[in-house]
Amino acid sequence: MSVDRDPELFREVFGRFATGVAVITSAGPAGAGGMTANAICSLSLDPPLVLACFENEARTLPIVRDSGRFGLSVLASDQLHLAGVFASKVPESEKLDGVAHSFEHGVPILGGALAWAVCELRELIAGGDHTIGIGDVVAIGLGEGKPLLWYAGRYHAGWSA
Ligand SMILES: Cc1cc2nc3c(=O)[nH]c(=O)nc-3n(C[C@H](O)[C@H](O)[C@H](O)COP(=O)(O)O)c2cc1C
Repeated sequence: MSVDRDPELFREVFGRFATGVAVITSAGPAGAGGMTANAICSLSLDPPLVLACFENEARTLPIVRDSGRFGLSVLASDQLHLAGVFASKVPESEKLDGVAHSFEHGVPILGGALAWAVCELRELIAGGDHTIGIGDVVAIGLGEGKPLLWYAGRYHAGWSA
């Protein structure tokens, strides 16, 4: 099947690659913001690098570009509501309102996250309608809980091996 003619099939095929759910945050001269993301992965151990993919229209992207850093908060299964908030288009300046967070290396990290990382932006690479951000990991930490999962276009909270 031609991918060009069937973008739905493209979505379905890659939607079967189950992932966790994270919130990418940043804070800069224009304020703080963040977005729900699952297109993130560890890229290199030495040096420690991660990559994250931003829709070109994502309002979080210029904040990351301007600040030169971003945070990753991996969501726990009891943080489904946060996935909704950060996937929404509420004003960027309001996304963190009422959401417990602390600042690590100048980047907001969500309270209760299953794990987190702070990255210094190393490179932005064009990738079609997305932009790939590569970051040097400068701080990491672990929280408690079970993961929130994304599979076949839906959130899943239960999991077992
Ligand atoms: C489960 C899930 C995963 C997502 N993953 C990404 C992603 O990896 N990259 C991206 O740019 N948008 C992703 N999105 C969409 C953004 O969260 C959404 O466009 C958001 O409104 C962007 O916020 P912003 O414009 O405030 O930056 C995802 C949404 C959901 C629900």
